[in-house]
Amino acid sequence: MLLRGNVALITGGASGIGAGIARRFIKEGAVVILGDVDAQAGQATAQDLGDHALFSTLDISNEDNVNAVVKGVFNEHGKIDILINNAGITNDRLLLRMTKEDWQRVIDINLTGTFLVTRAVMKYMIKQRYGRITNIASIVGLIGNPGQANYSASKAGIIGFTKACAKELAGRSITVNAIAPGFIDTRMTDALSDEIKEQYKQAIPVKRFGTVDDVASLAAYLSSQEASYITGQIICVDGGMVM
Ligand code: NAI
Repeated sequence: MLLRGNVALITGGASGIGAGIARRFIKEGAVVILGDVDAQAGQATAQDLGDHALFSTLDISNEDNVNAVVKGVFNEHGKIDILINNAGITNDRLLLRMTKEDWQRVIDINLTGTFLVTRAVMKYMIKQRYGRITNIASIVGLIGNPGQANYSASKAGIIGFTKACAKELAGRSITVNAIAPGFIDTRMTDALSDEIKEQYKQAIPVKRFGTVDDVASLAAYLSSQEASYITGQIICVDGGMVM
């Protein structure tokens, strides 16, 4: 068991990749707190995952809510070993038609939300002199994607943020890395048409979409003590799309 006795906060843990990471972390011996705006899905997922999963209503773009939830987790469990900044949204539109609101909403949640949760959690990690932070970016933060200027910018921002945090926190035994998934089978990608999905598949060297377990395996490793010499890295889980 890679994560025996660890306490992990996973944002956006109610569904998709976050729920997959939670399932894997519990198998590896952790207690997980799923933080998500979707209380109904979050409670159902926590129930499904069993006694080692707890749910907290969390909007990562709301500073007061973030600080209160993080404090609550620390007070209840006495530590926070692992943070997975996974919550994120898309709001796709071609640039010409993208309103400031379309832009701002994605930046507020994906990028500013990641900052708010990290800042709240690192305070406790610094005190305990241990921490593992993994941010879920995306390959589009590295290579861009038409119709996703807002989302690509938010994910590229997460990549810069990851490296700056890694440098600030390295001396405190806290590592900060990012996973850049390619095309992973979840509700987010379900929204794409079959035609677009087929086009993507052709562009993936291993010729299949990724699963949440493909992402969860790396998240478990990066969150473990085994990965103490890896920080500031952006690792693609994308079947070879970006190399
Ligand atoms: P999903 O839509 O299944 O899960 C996202 C979760 O975040 C949902 O449970 C949602 O309720 C939650 N959420 C949304 N706004 C929130 C907020 N303000 N505060 C707290 N929770 C919030 O999507 P999926 O695919 O599991 O995505 C997870 C992460 O992986 C996202 O950051 C996404 O950008 C990233 N990603 C996904 C890829 C894919 O192919 N599915 C590819 C690359 C990155």
